[in-house]
Amino acid sequence: MLLVKKIKSQKKEILKTVKGTRDILPEEARVLRKIEEKARGVAEYYGFKPIQTPHLEQTELFTASLGEATEMVEKQMYSFHTRGGDYLTLRPEGTAPIMRSYLEHGMKTWPQPVMLYYNGSFFRHESPQKGRWREFGQFGLEILGDASPVSDAIIIRVSTLILEEIGFKNIIVHINTLGDKECRGVYRKELVQYLRRKVNYLCPDCKKRLKKNPLRVLDCKNEECREIKEGAPQMIEYACADCRAHFKDVLEFLDELKIPYFLNHFLVRGLDYYSRTVFEFMPSDERDQKTSHLSLGGGGRYDYLAAALSSKNIPAAGAALGMDRITELAKELGISPLRKKEPKLFLIQLGDYAKRKSLSLVEDFRKANVPLAMSFSRDSIASQLKIAVKSGATLVLIIGQKEAYDETIIVRDIETRIQETVPLNDLLNFIKAKLKK
Ligand code: HAM
Repeated sequence: MLLVKKIKSQKKEILKTVKGTRDILPEEARVLRKIEEKARGVAEYYGFKPIQTPHLEQTELFTASLGEATEMVEKQMYSFHTRGGDYLTLRPEGTAPIMRSYLEHGMKTWPQPVMLYYNGSFFRHESPQKGRWREFGQFGLEILGDASPVSDAIIIRVSTLILEEIGFKNIIVHINTLGDKECRGVYRKELVQYLRRKVNYLCPDCKKRLKKNPLRVLDCKNEECREIKEGAPQMIEYACADCRAHFKDVLEFLDELKIPYFLNHFLVRGLDYYSRTVFEFMPSDERDQKTSHLSLGGGGRYDYLAAALSSKNIPAAGAALGMDRITELAKELGISPLRKKEPKLFLIQLGDYAKRKSLSLVEDFRKANVPLAMSFSRDSIASQLKIAVKSGATLVLIIGQKEAYDETIIVRDIETRIQETVPLNDLLNFIKAKLKK
């Protein structure tokens, strides 16, 4: 009753998913699981440990860290007052919660740096469009407690390795430096002066940005603003000696690791907590003209985030990969991260007693790590054989009433149609020997 809504003339309309959210159906869910598995594998190999934080956080965590004047805080957060009087937000991103967790659990006393990864859902009230969901998945990596450029490079290395492992070949890292508090302040002044002179030519959004968050003008995709951006002063020219040295080191690491990058002076990222290095992972496959402006992931250094949440100073760097965009693009480019080995065996069971016997047989195969396909819901041998052929099986195992009582099973080669009767207690060895051939 809860799932259906009564409409005129007694017709019942099925309730649908909320705008900007979606069901991930089995076929895509399998691809997604595989991608997550690969991401986890690479992250663990490089020494990252898993962490899980709640979907709900105090709203203040985000307003204090992401920046009051950011689009995320101004327009995109799902925030609400609870009956108990708390003001909570569905997490729009994972970095502030990870830093909160680091501070809350005294991770400063753990061996530094603390390297963490996470995977889960995030929520932003955006206009739904291709690659932009209101609930979306991110796989994130964070290195907390290290100020050196090696951490920036490791984050980029591990993220690009994950993308390569999934099957993307043409990922390019767009990279920029935002300097630190001091040199960015000087740059900001210069930029504002320059933009003020052009204010009449800026789009209405950028006119607002100029007052609240001028660096975001550089990020504007609007045609009118493009030309103005081209002539704007660039951060790198204003970076202090330390920030320049840091950026140079990161780039040298990337050169050494042969990671292709593009110095994008317009890359500013949408969150206030970044300092020094910022980057985004862009697909550069020509076949993908439509999605190429959407980043598959992004991140950077956030040395001031801890100070915005506490009196501590904890340098850190991280990135998050957008799982929805990754699965979508993989599909468009025909990349299959599954590359799954289809089971070569198909089990056909006829009659109740045979079905019961089959259950323990399936368990023996699972324990022995031998993939076995079957269709428990079909009864006739013809329909089960049809599915077996369709699944690409080369051997079928047939157990009927007679075989079940005799403790045997028929093994039939689909191609040659030759079949042998094998005792059940010898089946696994028999099959293993056959598959080896
Ligand atoms: P972000 O750039 O906002 O960074 O998000 C990272 C990635 O999540 C994006 O590049 C994109 O692939 C995906 N993404 C973002 N919004 C959406 C959406 N509405 N629908 C689908 N995918 C989306 C962060 O969130 C930072 N916390 C990353 C970070 C980690 N920085 C340091 N550490």
